Amino acid sequence: MSRIAYVNGRYLPRAQAKVSVEDRGYQFADGVYEVCEVRGGCLIDERRHMARLDLSLNELRIARPMSPAALSIVLWETVRRNRVRDGIVYLQITRGVARRDFAFPPADTKASVVVTARSNDLAHLEQLADEGIAVITVPDIRWQRVDIKSVALLPNVLAKQAARDQGAREAWLVDAQGRVTEGASSNAWIVSRDGKLITHPLGRDILAGVTRSVVVNVLKAQGLAFEERAFSVDEAYAAREAFVTSASQTVLPVVSIDGRPVGNGAPGLIAAALRRDYHRHAEVA
Ligand code: PDD
Repeated sequence: MSRIAYVNGRYLPRAQAKVSVEDRGYQFADGVYEVCEVRGGCLIDERRHMARLDLSLNELRIARPMSPAALSIVLWETVRRNRVRDGIVYLQITRGVARRDFAFPPADTKASVVVTARSNDLAHLEQLADEGIAVITVPDIRWQRVDIKSVALLPNVLAKQAARDQGAREAWLVDAQGRVTEGASSNAWIVSRDGKLITHPLGRDILAGVTRSVVVNVLKAQGLAFEERAFSVDEAYAAREAFVTSASQTVLPVVSIDGRPVGNGAPGLIAAALRRDYHRHAEVA
């Protein structure tokens, strides 16, 4: 559990860590975020997360509230103060506090910055990886710029809850053409019958996952058969393996989709190998 939160320049006990009711993140979901893995007390792939943060901020025309170096210090300090060895650090930047009005507030409005950190239950994650997870498919009802990591996550929330209601851990979002875009909070992958790794190409309709990009680099370096293309739900049902990638859980095998077993119903060898080797390829600061 996060105990100390950074809020606009101060490290506060969580009970005192508050933002205004007129924060635009609260009122309009007018903000962006990042979730970075913490392992052994170090941030993993911080550089890539910060690069994506810049993209999100630029797209929303939110001015960077502090220098990259200062922000990095806050991230590490929040991890340290919460004594997180293995877990995540969460960063949120919103357009700030202003009288409610849809259009942007005055240019001198300061962006709000919140950072929290919490430990992961590593034993539980390892158990999930050993057993594999169930996913369901639901329609992708999100807006058309999900490449921006905005805090507007209501469709993701509803998809994730639908998964929980059906005893699954993740929901795969399906576009109007019946193709899987990504998970509610992860990127989606399959291994086809003929051994090709397939994941949706980058663009405006998925988040450019940091974990995804590390896995792509591994596949290229190892010369594995790999295609960045959309795959249908039927292809996923017929896949030999499936898995998801995200900063908070790295690579997690999928063993059932909509109640149908994937392959032989056990975690696949490729997914297990990618998970095992992940941190040899990720960047540790
Ligand atoms: N989720 N797609 C979506 C919609 C996501 O929310 C996430 C991450 C990913 C994977 O991105 P990355 O590998 O950079 O974590 C893909 C984070 C972990 C979250 O919202 O908690």
